[in-house]
Amino acid sequence: MRHGDADLPTLVVLISGNGSNLQAIIDAIAHGSLAARIAAVISNEPDAGGLERARRAGIPTRVVCHRDHAGRSEFDRALAVEIEGFAPDLLVLAGFMRILGADFVRRYPGRILNIHPALLPRFRGTDTHRRALEAGVAEHGASVHVVTEELDAGPVIRQARVPVLPDDDPDTLAARVLAEEHRLYPAAIAEYLSRLSVAPTASQQD
Ligand code: GRF
Repeated sequence: MRHGDADLPTLVVLISGNGSNLQAIIDAIAHGSLAARIAAVISNEPDAGGLERARRAGIPTRVVCHRDHAGRSEFDRALAVEIEGFAPDLLVLAGFMRILGADFVRRYPGRILNIHPALLPRFRGTDTHRRALEAGVAEHGASVHVVTEELDAGPVIRQARVPVLPDDDPDTLAARVLAEEHRLYPAAIAEYLSRLSVAPTASQQD
């Protein structure tokens, strides 16, 4: 017997922009390769394109704009209040461009994933594609990692690799990495949920 959506592990996805990784997660759920439910998509940018992607998929959306809050801790607290309403099993950062403070991260120990456009531990932080080209690496890629208090330093769940081509500029390299991110993130989320033991058991999926 197939159980309803209520049996699925719940995700809250945080975005800031276009939301193509969010779309990949929505699509993986729709196609049955990721057994989860997105309870809400929350953006810190009111105009984020990913909000429309969520609406099209019938997913509740919220905006917690960092500019409406005096500082990071106030923003983090407001974000946490919105998240708590959805009681997620896992928080998924998908192109979420704010750094979360230590207090926030401690609310969800081991329960926040991020996708970072580089092969961690190389190229933490921003501007990864330009820095990879400047460093002359032969290979670049993306990493899904657990979010800890130290930026881009939590345990890596899975990585995807792409070659760096002779004519690459940061945009061509970013596009090649992003295409891999879309395969990587849903698979890494599925793997991590099974480790957290909140994925449905085989019998629940029948
Ligand atoms: C991705 O490259 C992600 O790794 C980075 O920001 C980009 C977001 O893309 N942090 P999208 O919003 O998922 O389309």
